[in-house]
Amino acid sequence: MSISSENATEQDLMSCIVKENLPRHVAITMDGNGRWATRRDLPRTEGHKAGVKSVKSAVELCGELEIMVLTLYAFSSENWKRPALEVNALMNLLLEQLKEETPELNEKNIQLKAIGDLSKLPGKVTRELNRSMKITRNNTGLILNLALSYGGRQEIVRVTQSIANDVNNGKIKIKDINEKLFSKYLYTAGLPDPDLIIRTSGEMRISNFLLWQLAYSEIYVTDTLWPDFSKKEFLLALLSYQKRNRRFGGV
Ligand code: FPP
Repeated sequence: MSISSENATEQDLMSCIVKENLPRHVAITMDGNGRWATRRDLPRTEGHKAGVKSVKSAVELCGELEIMVLTLYAFSSENWKRPALEVNALMNLLLEQLKEETPELNEKNIQLKAIGDLSKLPGKVTRELNRSMKITRNNTGLILNLALSYGGRQEIVRVTQSIANDVNNGKIKIKDINEKLFSKYLYTAGLPDPDLIIRTSGEMRISNFLLWQLAYSEIYVTDTLWPDFSKKEFLLALLSYQKRNRRFGGV
């Protein structure tokens, strides 16, 4: 059976997965919700609502495969420029999902984390997010990492400011600054860098996502729009990853 075969079932693809060669960290740019809705003559916000189903199936698959971290680009620092109606709809959807899904996340031993400038989120979202993170903080299964009001450049500037501050107050010396130390100041401190970055909807862009952390990540782009990104699609991405020869700049 060809693993990219259109006819392959989810079970067929699952049986081709080599458990020892899975990414520890998968990052996903969930793109195409707006286009999914527009193609159906629906408001863009319906696309975001439909995208929740794909979020759930991606989380479920990562749990089943015992992947360590799943980072989802749910709202970028640039997304604040969208019409207020869409921003509000996204914030309400997030709030609703946090309220509804936290008990299940906890039951499934999933730990919720968030990266980004969380101070910009509406108070009710921050409160619910903090509550969910607190409830799930001791869980030892999948780390579900939500990028919210996140921008890679903003993260790097923030790290630079914190390092400069620590040099100023004598905590560290300039000669101590290296990649390892820099990583400790990132939002993702303590997490492995993504091995695989998936982007849906066919766009070949990084869009300010995890600029430092993606240095050696394998890239997988699919034309599938996020609301149509099924477990089968995710398995195809993982199987593509398993065929890669990662050299990290070596030979
Ligand atoms: C990009 O599609 C998608 C977003 C900006 C939001 C993603 C949000 C969700 C999938 C739902 C809620 C998330 C969680 C974690 C519960 P787009 O609007 O840029 O699509 P387009 O490129 O077709 O316009």
